[in-house]
Amino acid sequence: MARRILLDCDPGHDDAVAILLALASPAELELLGLCVVGGNVKLDATVLNARKLLALAGREDIPVYAGCPRPMLREMVTAEHVHGDTGLDSGSGRELPEPDTPVANQHAVSLLIDTIRQAPAGEITLVATGPLTNVAVAFAMAPDIIDRLHELVVMGGAGFEPGNITPAAEFNIFVDPHAARAVFESGVKLTMFGLDVTHQMLITPPRLKNIAENGGRVGEVVADLLDFFNQYDIGKYGWDGAPLHDPCTIAWLIDPTLFEGRAMHVAVDTNEGPSLGRTVTDWFGVTDAEPNAMVITKGDADRFFALITERLALLK
Ligand code: BDR
Ligand code: CA
Repeated sequence: MARRILLDCDPGHDDAVAILLALASPAELELLGLCVVGGNVKLDATVLNARKLLALAGREDIPVYAGCPRPMLREMVTAEHVHGDTGLDSGSGRELPEPDTPVANQHAVSLLIDTIRQAPAGEITLVATGPLTNVAVAFAMAPDIIDRLHELVVMGGAGFEPGNITPAAEFNIFVDPHAARAVFESGVKLTMFGLDVTHQMLITPPRLKNIAENGGRVGEVVADLLDFFNQYDIGKYGWDGAPLHDPCTIAWLIDPTLFEGRAMHVAVDTNEGPSLGRTVTDWFGVTDAEPNAMVITKGDADRFFALITERLALLK
């Protein structure tokens, strides 16, 4: 039976691929809804982008819930420099289709709580590919849902890699470090896809070409989006392509053999200063702290990109 998932996201180019990969994998995943948070761009734009992606995939039956527009304590930080003004700019300037279906009436946090409470205990998997504000607020309002989740899969953090928004911090954790800390300290079963693994998933020219040529109608659009996404990161990192972060979470749910990790303790630094938002990750177990996360450290990039291409081609 397909695993029932909720995806909390801030699209965003790599969130977009995560959403489409989930939609293209109905045998493994049943996507119940998209919860949206402010992150890569402001909330009204991330919500519109989520709706446009569902229109692109012909899946506007899936509801979109708007969540928190800003982090708990800090001022909002966004990433137009990476994702463009819309949050989903394309290489060619092509626009995504306008959605027909309005955003759902319910707030994303209340949807998370209701869905997890109403499903049998242990059934719902929550995937979070943006700042963790919605998730932390849901856990604070309804702590009973923490143990009712099957698990929480997070794109965020950097255990052993340098940060990407500051030298110490990865973007999603940095935007709302207090939310991230609350979630990592909540006791939820958590798998972390940080920069340690996502920096292995580079959108190289042959992989991009393969998506464009063999990913069908949607693959062609995705390649155009990733062409834009590559521009800033190639300049910044000097690598052969941008790292494709968020779809690692979904790919792992589809095929866990693509990745390897190790359980360890992760602490989120919420002190103001140069280490704000750092995920301090105890590889050698030098603290007495119990592991609170499965930290994914390795992935098979060729198989990851082959999976994405092959699945996108299934979206007609
Ligand atoms: C994360 O930050 C965002 O820009 C991406 O969508 C991804 O979730 C990578 O640090
Ligand atoms: Ca994201």
